[in-house]
Amino acid sequence: MAQTTEEPKATAPPPRIGKQGDPCIMVIFGAAGDLTGRLLIPALYNLARAGLLSKEFAVLGVARAQLSDEEFRKRVYEDIKTYCGECVDSDVWDWFASRFFYLPGDFNDKGLYAKLKESLSKIDQEHSTHQNFFYYMAVAPKYFGPVVEQIAANGLMDQNDGHWRRVVIEKPFGHDLESAKALNQQLLKLADEKQIYRIDHYLGKETVQNIMAFRFANGIFEPVWNRRYIDHVQISVAETVGVEGRGGYFDQAGTLRDMVPNHIMQLISLTAMEPPISFDANAVRDEQAKILHAIRARPIRRWN
Ligand SMILES: NC(=O)c1ccc[n+]([C@@H]2O[C@H](COP(=O)([O-])OP(=O)(O)OC[C@H]3O[C@@H](n4cnc5c(N)ncnc54)[C@H](OP(=O)(O)O)[C@@H]3O)[C@@H](O)[C@H]2O)c1
Repeated sequence: MAQTTEEPKATAPPPRIGKQGDPCIMVIFGAAGDLTGRLLIPALYNLARAGLLSKEFAVLGVARAQLSDEEFRKRVYEDIKTYCGECVDSDVWDWFASRFFYLPGDFNDKGLYAKLKESLSKIDQEHSTHQNFFYYMAVAPKYFGPVVEQIAANGLMDQNDGHWRRVVIEKPFGHDLESAKALNQQLLKLADEKQIYRIDHYLGKETVQNIMAFRFANGIFEPVWNRRYIDHVQISVAETVGVEGRGGYFDQAGTLRDMVPNHIMQLISLTAMEPPISFDANAVRDEQAKILHAIRARPIRRWN
């Protein structure tokens, strides 16, 4: 049989489930890092393929690496190729390539934020993004507060003219209760609660999202999902990716802190909570919180 040397084709786009987003610019602080390349870029690519990004959407990457727009786009292309596991859909790519921009600079340099304001205004005019901006903090936690402070000082959190401005913060949100409260207070001085999105990307994983449907909409499991029929629950977090270039991060943050207070607590609470009164975010959060309040830490039994 003749062998083909053709590249594999991109698979069919996923169905559009959900509402298309507003026109906006996504500013990624830390755009040359691991989180951006491995998770954010593939997520944006998949949203674009599913038709869920507004036609008036753009990305502005900010990081220390001295890259031009063109070099940044090449990295984005490589990230899609590497992490989406298929060849890049050329229509989506052409659209992406015209709306990805890059601003090099150091977060500690106050001059960076004046340049950011200029770049945002220019991209906004070119792409009609209605001055809606959101800032994604793909940066080390020590920068969360200082970067948002500078964004706000430059008027870039203001929502006076009918547009919105938001900030997205990945875990770790502080390294203990005190530091989490301090970060919260700092942010709330700079932005309204509704402008702050504290996120855990684990909640976007399909298996995690399926837990609720599996538990509450499944006539076989729902009646037996309780302590009378379940002896114990074991949660295994099986990672396919090793430490790779993230040794510095894990050494500083701690592996337990990286997984347990966020991802694993989410899994525990989704597995054990009572049915929420609706699937509204606050209703689900309230039921999850009840489980966390009910958990009692037991002393670890030592065998030696
Ligand atoms: N990676 C993950 O899977 C993951 C998952 C969940 C949460 N997170 C969180 O996401 C954040 C980022 O993690 P990461 O793994 O992406 O880290 P990373 O690979 O070290 O990337 C950090 C980024 O920040 C930039 N940067 C660092 N210091 C800077 C400065 N002073 N001025 C300007 N840019 C600076 C780096 O730019 P240069 O490269 O140009 O220096 C790089 O683009 C961390 O808070 C982490 O906890 C990561």
